[in-house]
Amino acid sequence: MDYKKYIKIVNDWPKEGIEFKDITPWMDNGEAYKAAVNEMVAFAKEKDIDIVVGPEARGFIIGCPVSYALGVGFAPVRKEGKLPREVIKVDYGLEYGKNVLTIHKDAIKPGQRVLITDDLLATGGTIEATIKLVEQLGGIVVGCAFMIELSYLNGMDKLKDYDVLALVKY
Ligand code: PRP
Ligand code: MG
Repeated sequence: MDYKKYIKIVNDWPKEGIEFKDITPWMDNGEAYKAAVNEMVAFAKEKDIDIVVGPEARGFIIGCPVSYALGVGFAPVRKEGKLPREVIKVDYGLEYGKNVLTIHKDAIKPGQRVLITDDLLATGGTIEATIKLVEQLGGIVVGCAFMIELSYLNGMDKLKDYDVLALVKY
């Protein structure tokens, strides 16, 4: 499927110089959304996934339907101050800004096979932080799946040791 026709490019948002890729037209088209979920499910099928992990907020949009379709659970990675119980934290840099990501300490059991999902791979800061959280809990990252890769920001350089799927590349 030609997913690019469902992505709206918004210039200078949220900051000057950023070419924001708006995936909402992709999500609100049932056929295109389902096709994306199905491609990620096919990528995950042979990997014996125990749990899907996704960073808020847009990592939930794609990760939750994928986990549902695989019949496995979903563990949220959230920005600091959002999870109510004991967490571990990692600092990370963003294409625009800085932040802290957290995960509940008991979200992943040692040895669990984890698929990480997100809407977008840009600089790779978010995925790198999410991988660190999963690995610190003893999880094994067996795949990372993105709707979009911005190849000009070189996020893939941080994922050399991982199996990666990106549905659309710019
Ligand atoms: C966006 C996007 C990815 C991340 C990619 O999330 O959803 O998670 O940036 O950028 P990176 O590869 O440079 O880390 P953002 O933090 O803007 O928040 P959101 O998902 O809550 O909208
Ligand atoms: Mg995000």
